[in-house]
Amino acid sequence: MQRPRVHGKFLFVGEEKFWIRGVTYGTFKPDHSGVQFPPQDLVERDFRAIADAGLNAIRVYTAPPLWLMHAAAAFGLRVMIGLPWEQHVTFLDDRVRAKRILSDMRKNVRRLAGHPAVLCYAVGNEIPASVVRWYGKARVERFEKGPATVDISKYPEGIKANYEVFTQKCSQCHKLSRPINSDYALPDEWSRYIKRMMNKPGSGISSAEGKKIYEFLTYDSSVRKKAMLDEKLAKATPADKTTAETKIKEVHDKYDSK
Ligand code: HEC
Repeated sequence: MQRPRVHGKFLFVGEEKFWIRGVTYGTFKPDHSGVQFPPQDLVERDFRAIADAGLNAIRVYTAPPLWLMHAAAAFGLRVMIGLPWEQHVTFLDDRVRAKRILSDMRKNVRRLAGHPAVLCYAVGNEIPASVVRWYGKARVERFEKGPATVDISKYPEGIKANYEVFTQKCSQCHKLSRPINSDYALPDEWSRYIKRMMNKPGSGISSAEGKKIYEFLTYDSSVRKKAMLDEKLAKATPADKTTAETKIKEVHDKYDSK
């Protein structure tokens, strides 16, 4: 069985236009071992009936086991593989959950990659409008209505100077309220984010300026966002925690009481 390819508005298998004639298959209640499909003999019987009815594709809603893909191929059926994710929960609230969604996707795609019966993947489903509205509003409000300045009166002189670089460079494309009210606090979160911003076209931030901004944001997070920082450190692996603490200490050692 050859994998179809996209050509213009159509799908082709070899030189032939491929018309999908498919039916949905599932969802099914998980069995005792968590497999969300019927037993293999029943699936094969179903697939035979589907193929006999002149259909050439099925759509499943959970990541199929490999034996199901083999069975589909045996009956000339292609599989549209739905990879579900928790679209109905407010997934962005929780970075761990957002990461897990991605890694689950990768794991499933890797497991099925290259199988001849793969027609396509359908990632997730509609994100409910209520979730979109909630995020849009909640995020925008958090960024936009939060403060756009930091009280630096008690910060060391060097950090005050770095704050100036931050206010100039990081306010070019959006308000400063965005970094100031974000939930980044760890040194590595900041270095990653600053690099990402430096890579945006026209940002014009030199690496020396990037370093000053990093030092400011790391220092500021260790004071103004101390509770958030401590919470993140408590959740980090011991190695990551040590790395982060070392980096924070470096900044303090460089600037404190000077
Ligand atoms: C050249 C334009 C540009 C500059 C300069 C810039 N940003 Fe951004 N920033 C963006 C854009 C575009 C987004 C939204 C898309 C994204 O997150 O990449 C954004 C989003 C953000 C976010 C929101 C992240 C989230 O979780 O939604 C933070 C925090 C941020 N920027 C921090 C900074 C900091 C710190 C600086 C200074 C080093 C900076 N930005 C400079 C363009 C810029």
